[in-house]
Amino acid sequence: MTKNTYALITGASAGIGFELAHQFAAKGYNIVLTARREDRLLQLSNTLMQQYGVDAKFISADLSDTDAPKQIHDFCKNSNLDIEILVNNAGYSINKKFHDTNEDDEDKFLTVLGTSVVHLTKFFVRDFLARGSGKIMMVSSLASFAPPSSGWGMMYGPVKTFVNRLGDAININYNSRGITATNVCPGFTITEFHTASGMQDKMDAVPSFMKKDVKSVARGAVEATLKGKQVWVPGFLNKFLAFLCNVMPARLIIKISARLAGGRYE
Ligand SMILES: NC(=O)c1ccc[n+]([C@@H]2O[C@H](COP(=O)([O-])OP(=O)(O)OC[C@H]3O[C@@H](n4cnc5c(N)ncnc54)[C@H](OP(=O)(O)O)[C@@H]3O)[C@@H](O)[C@H]2O)c1
Repeated sequence: MTKNTYALITGASAGIGFELAHQFAAKGYNIVLTARREDRLLQLSNTLMQQYGVDAKFISADLSDTDAPKQIHDFCKNSNLDIEILVNNAGYSINKKFHDTNEDDEDKFLTVLGTSVVHLTKFFVRDFLARGSGKIMMVSSLASFAPPSSGWGMMYGPVKTFVNRLGDAININYNSRGITATNVCPGFTITEFHTASGMQDKMDAVPSFMKKDVKSVARGAVEATLKGKQVWVPGFLNKFLAFLCNVMPARLIIKISARLAGGRYE
């Protein structure tokens, strides 16, 4: 049955966001898609409308542009789209050592994965408070629990830890007012992420038993968000790794991961 409300998904042109759009549409949610690649958003919105009979709108935006969160929120308001679910998913990594990364690239990275998430969340939390309900999915990472990588973008883990803490803060402050945040923390997932971030060779070196398919990750993430779970980690192995990261000394985690994680720690 089609619902009257919309799920807004950032980073919907590929990977996890693309699959989340299918999963929410399959449950009858209307969808607002956003990412930079307009051709992909147009194609996906048509597919969602035909395949699931829902409404699907899109707005092309670059989240490294500091005005983008407001533009996306304005688009929803001006089009009278009642957003019930916000999915902060867009992301990538920088495949360079910290000392080799230039400040502009770092600023853009922190804007896409950090500041834009804060601003979008703030805009929609205000609407959720007015309505008395709303759900937020933070697509974080298993890396948020692990010691920061030395070999793959050093700021990636820390910014994902920040995203988790933002989700926690939303739960602490707004659960009583009908708003939940779910920190979704995938491990290695087969998407365009590693190619887009210039680290496909490193992903290829990761043993296949450690990689999950994107459909199962998206399916579980949607269920967890609709149930209002605070944290969801896909799969037994990733749950076990998250547990180890929380209880084992960092140097041991680094030693084990240096063998398994294709260059995360060099
Ligand atoms: N794949 C994994 O192993 C893995 C593991 C843990 C966590 N994650 C997280 O999962 C999320 C989704 O990643 P994915 O694996 O699905 O990667 P992906 O297949 O590369 O998709 C990334 C999405 O983010 C969008 N995006 C990137 N930069 C953007 C920008 N400046 N402005 C707006 N949109 C932007 C891309 O769209 P456009 O290029 O069209 O803008 C694309 O839709 C990310 O937050 C990532 O950190 C991934």
